[in-house]
Amino acid sequence: MTDPIRVVQSEMEELTQELFQLLRIPSVSAHSERREDTRAAAQWVADHLRSSGLDATLVETSGHPVVLGEWRGAGPEAPTLLIYGHYDVQPAEPLELWTSPPFDPQIRDGRIYGRGTADDKGQLYLHLKALEILLRTRGSLPVNVIVLAEGEEEIGSPHLLPFLQSNRDRLACDAVVISDSQMFAPGQPSLLYSLRGLSYVEIRLRGARSDLHSGAYGGAVPNPATILSRLLATLHDDQGRITIPGFYDGVREWDAAARESIRKLPFDEEAFRQQVGSPRLEGEAGFSTLERLWTRPTCEVNGLHSGYTGEGAKTVLPGEAMAKVSFRLVPDQDPLEVEKLLRAHLARHTPSSVSLDVTSLHSGPPWRGNPDGPFFHAAERALERTFGKEPVLTGEGGSIPIVADFERELNAPAILLGFALPGANMHAPDEWFPYAHLELGIATLIHLFEELEEENATG
Ligand code: BES
Ligand code: ZN
Repeated sequence: MTDPIRVVQSEMEELTQELFQLLRIPSVSAHSERREDTRAAAQWVADHLRSSGLDATLVETSGHPVVLGEWRGAGPEAPTLLIYGHYDVQPAEPLELWTSPPFDPQIRDGRIYGRGTADDKGQLYLHLKALEILLRTRGSLPVNVIVLAEGEEEIGSPHLLPFLQSNRDRLACDAVVISDSQMFAPGQPSLLYSLRGLSYVEIRLRGARSDLHSGAYGGAVPNPATILSRLLATLHDDQGRITIPGFYDGVREWDAAARESIRKLPFDEEAFRQQVGSPRLEGEAGFSTLERLWTRPTCEVNGLHSGYTGEGAKTVLPGEAMAKVSFRLVPDQDPLEVEKLLRAHLARHTPSSVSLDVTSLHSGPPWRGNPDGPFFHAAERALERTFGKEPVLTGEGGSIPIVADFERELNAPAILLGFALPGANMHAPDEWFPYAHLELGIATLIHLFEELEEENATG
């Protein structure tokens, strides 16, 4: 039998070009003018699955379609693995900050640059290719496989939970495998067992009917920009703690062992600071950087807009001011409860001189998994075989909103093994994925199937 890993190595040229096809499709789920492109990416994924030998369909939602692929050749007694990924990407703007165009992937210095290389089309492709090569070389898989690729992850997966709920039987599985994150460090594979949740709102304050002359009216008419600044400043105290009453009530503390295992990780704080480029790191008092990122909830102003922001000076008193504010949440905070607390806090602190309008944008629950069980350990062995090093356990500050729902609705553990590297510029200009991880990622996933086969044989 042909060794599937050999096949990966000998086809690197072709498979890189194949991945580039997918990366060239600008599947920006947030932009309505990209609707057809987003659909084209879904179609591309479905076609790939089909030509590998899976049954694949596009399932319509009222948003972007879900791609569902199935291979049930292992039989009803064999375990079933559900592979999840997303084919949508974040907007690429500001385009002028990219070294090469976001949807024209290029390799420089051992990195593939382009929107979606790391998050998540590049990593979804690792799974597609591993399945294809395994089916081509062995003709079968040791377990049944469901592939679920969605096109709305980057806008908060608004239609995926109802889809899970109405397809529970069809999606029944023993584990969910996801590659949509990063390794702890180059050469150091990792398994991710916590994600933060999210609550995202838009806050709008309105004063005068329109923008006014700031001299003719200023001093007598309220300024929504100033009032919004004061309002946003009430969200934190000087220790970096969030001041919304009740905000921390749902937080389940990490146990001593988990905190200790974070402390043991070889984290280079100064390298991290240099990578982000800010003069100093800052956060909630009493916690290390990794603890702040992985174990603590946050409140961030994502965007601010009011009055005149063009070239030069325009003397104007804004009629309104807007802020986009998001909270990253940790177990067991409830995104909707947090939003309720926020609304009450804002209402209490907004003076009657302006009107307040709060719009929910999206939300997703936090997740903490159980780093144990046969699938988790198979993934550990697969990573170790490929990278020659035992994986470490990590947390993550970002969110994959559907992970907690998967575990609850399908009653199956989620196994998160990501292959991007720190500094991958997800959501930012010059997003990249290490070229070498194209081969190593596919190899790991092939090894994962081999480990599961061992498990079946011996278990
Ligand atoms: N792939 C990311 C999550 C992630 C980010 C994992 C960084 C590891 C490192 C995911 O696609 C993402 O960005 N999610 C959004 C969700 C939101 C739009 C609802 C996020 O975290 O902002
Ligand atoms: Zn992603």
